[in-house]
Amino acid sequence: MTTNTQITEDRILILDFGSQYSQLIARRVRESGVYSEMFAYDMSEEDIRAFNPNGIILSGGPESVHEEGSPRAPEVVFNLGIPVLGICYGLQTMSAQLGGKVEPGTVHEFGYAEVDIQIRDGLIGDLEDSADKLKVWMSHGDKVTQIPEGFQITASTPSCPVAMVSDEKRRFYGIQFHPEVTHTAKGKELLSNFVHNICGCRSLWNSENIIDLRVEQLREHIGDQKVLLGLSGGVDSSVVAALLHRAIGDQLTCVFVDNGLLRLNEGDQVMDMFAKNMGIRVIRADAEERFLTALAGEVDPEKKRKIIGREFIEVFAEEARKLDGVNFLAQGTIYPDVIESAASKQGKAHVIKSHHNVGGLPEDLAFELVEPIRDLFKDEVRKLGTTLGLPFEMLYRHPFPGPGLGVRILGEVKKEYADILRLADDIFMQELRASGWYDKTAQAFAVFQPVKSVGVVGDGRRYAWVIALRAVETVDFMTARFAHLPYELVDKISTRIMNEIAEVSRVVYDVSSKPPATIEWE
Ligand code: XMP
Repeated sequence: MTTNTQITEDRILILDFGSQYSQLIARRVRESGVYSEMFAYDMSEEDIRAFNPNGIILSGGPESVHEEGSPRAPEVVFNLGIPVLGICYGLQTMSAQLGGKVEPGTVHEFGYAEVDIQIRDGLIGDLEDSADKLKVWMSHGDKVTQIPEGFQITASTPSCPVAMVSDEKRRFYGIQFHPEVTHTAKGKELLSNFVHNICGCRSLWNSENIIDLRVEQLREHIGDQKVLLGLSGGVDSSVVAALLHRAIGDQLTCVFVDNGLLRLNEGDQVMDMFAKNMGIRVIRADAEERFLTALAGEVDPEKKRKIIGREFIEVFAEEARKLDGVNFLAQGTIYPDVIESAASKQGKAHVIKSHHNVGGLPEDLAFELVEPIRDLFKDEVRKLGTTLGLPFEMLYRHPFPGPGLGVRILGEVKKEYADILRLADDIFMQELRASGWYDKTAQAFAVFQPVKSVGVVGDGRRYAWVIALRAVETVDFMTARFAHLPYELVDKISTRIMNEIAEVSRVVYDVSSKPPATIEWE
């Protein structure tokens, strides 16, 4: 089951022209309770009709409408008799395709602008704003200079006379700014107006409905067959476990590989939550020794990653072979893993990245894939998890890399180092949580430095290891700023680590941002 059709009514189709914000449109529409999916702008007429949308949104994009070969919306978009909303490039191509004119602007307008509302049409409706002005986020070079017949200008800015347009008869709307970004005041309300009031969609997209639909679908698809899931304790695989358990109960078996590179008590916590509390069948493969043996003597970060990946597959495959009659392999693939928002690079929006949690299983284990959260954004996965009863701390915790402490122990991985690091990391997390800083940072962890440093304890000299603390603020993990933790907090953490762990004589705080540094040290 790798398709993601599930809600057949009240759907919004987004055609992606490649804007960096396209994914956000889908997220905002879904946040307003309406199912939406994004496809490349050149989706076929047949597929568009088959999607059965109640409305279509044309996204922004980097190209210029007046350049030869620039993308166009399929004509059928304007012939279905359903509402269409063009955003930025979407507005421009709609204008050009329906008989208007688009010209290059003299300057590229980028940043905040104030939109002056002139006509309150169905899209603007009764959006609350004090002086008929909306603060919005603009990012465009070209401008619509002549609107198509049947259209009216409903709002403008000093430098962009055609900021919003509409043809209420045909229910075509256009916005030059970006309602999907949070910088735009009332942007969410505008999109909500479009999908609810203009397209007439009901709010069917919520966790309860998604779970009901998904459970029904999983039951139908799986029948009385068996499913195997690699459970890591991370958000995605945990939600898949809870969802599958609700759908098929004991037909689900999870394999949890304890590679010895997990955080303090993590293995026990995963077992307690899933096996003990939720009654899910979980096999714990205790493979610490095996991983450490395989890693012995290896200092190269990429080789370490490869070894950990290889061992994981082998351990997982061995456990899978022990099980009888398993037909399906479940995976916690999510929507951002699936979509390529740079639309149509190869003419396809749904290009699958080689980003698989349990990729590369040996050929004798040919399972059919089940990916029940493949069409969900991370925040939707978290909401689903909440509704399924998973604890907040689990759903909102920092990401933890697959190779675990293996990339947080610099150089050769040894059990002694992992044990010290676990204790230090645990103290760091305790203090971050207690001070309220855990939720203010995107990721934080301790790193083991295999160098010794001199310290003094009482009258004695201590010659012991160094621990580095890393905490970052980021939204996308592509760039990050080191978290500006209060000195008092850093002081408390470092003092506790050095006092409570005799094998540590020094603690340092990592003040590197990404780029040029990466978040992990290896
Ligand atoms: P970097 O270190 O590249 O990390 O700035 C960005 C994000 O990716 C995580 N990360 C990994 N996750 N396997 C994973 O599953 C890996 O090998 C890996 N390396 C880095 C890192 O924790 C951060 O969230």
